[in-house]
Amino acid sequence: MARAKRILITGASSGIGRALALRYADPSRSLALFGRDAARLEAVADACRAKGAAVETASVDVRDRHAMAARVAQAGEREPVDLVVANAGVATGLSPGQIAEDPEAVRGIFAINVLGVLNTVEPAIAAMCARRSGHIALVGSMAGLRGLPYSPAYCATKAAVHLYADSLRGALAPHGVNVSLIVPGFVTTPMTERLEAWQPGRVSDERAAEIILRGLERGAAVIAFPLFVYYAIRLFRNLPPRIVDAVMRRFDVSVPQTHEREQPSLERERS
Ligand SMILES: NC(=O)c1ccc[n+]([C@@H]2O[C@H](COP(=O)([O-])OP(=O)(O)OC[C@H]3O[C@@H](n4cnc5c(N)ncnc54)[C@H](OP(=O)(O)O)[C@@H]3O)[C@@H](O)[C@H]2O)c1
Repeated sequence: MARAKRILITGASSGIGRALALRYADPSRSLALFGRDAARLEAVADACRAKGAAVETASVDVRDRHAMAARVAQAGEREPVDLVVANAGVATGLSPGQIAEDPEAVRGIFAINVLGVLNTVEPAIAAMCARRSGHIALVGSMAGLRGLPYSPAYCATKAAVHLYADSLRGALAPHGVNVSLIVPGFVTTPMTERLEAWQPGRVSDERAAEIILRGLERGAAVIAFPLFVYYAIRLFRNLPPRIVDAVMRRFDVSVPQTHEREQPSLERERS
């Protein structure tokens, strides 16, 4: 794979996206960093500039399809984007004893984790296919490999990302565009700070960024880590579903509900 020089990352204001931006930052690269929290995003941008990278930021909500199309296109005007990392995402789930997820939270997470990914990737596809080069990376999760009783909607959004990435990979390869699916296990970020659960194989955000960067440089179809968790879940998928469900229920897990709801600006337009 040619070395990516122009890189767009969503969710760059925190966690994995932030660590990836810092890992990519060097004088040979220019970064388009997307996030919502302008102050945190600028702090990441400054840290990347200090490492010699040229950086511009876009404070935009991934749910805003038209704003995303405009900002992704704008990022490509400066110089063609070699790599787009659709990373922005949120988590939601159930606390022990809670039976059902809040329908508003469920719709909020689908809007960000699924539609937000489409809003990031779609504007990049045509430009990359036209010049027959480019790399699209989508951040899924181990939770996208098998549904978990503590976070039904989160698992469903990540499963959608996995299948979308697999489909895109086949569709875009003949046009010279590579697609990678990133499947992280537990990574230390503000997202996992809110999670009460046993987190086997948890890695730091810097370690995650290193693994992701190496996988992307290889052009890997799937970048999953840690591998023992990845293969354990794949093995579990071959067991009778009720047995897996029973094992999963034995774990004491609390996944806080997201505060995200459908995009306020769209709701205002509708009313
Ligand atoms: N941490 C893990 O263990 C883990 C494991 C598997 C997969 N993942 C996935 O990795 C990705 C990054 O997670 P993380 O752990 O780094 O979480 P994080 O620290 O909470 O960061 C999430 C990022 O997504 C951005 N974001 C959220 N909603 C957005 C929206 N509507 N519009 C634009 N940006 C938005 C946030 O921006 P602002 O803060 O600026 O709003 C932030 O930069 C997610 O897709 C997550 O599902 C994480």
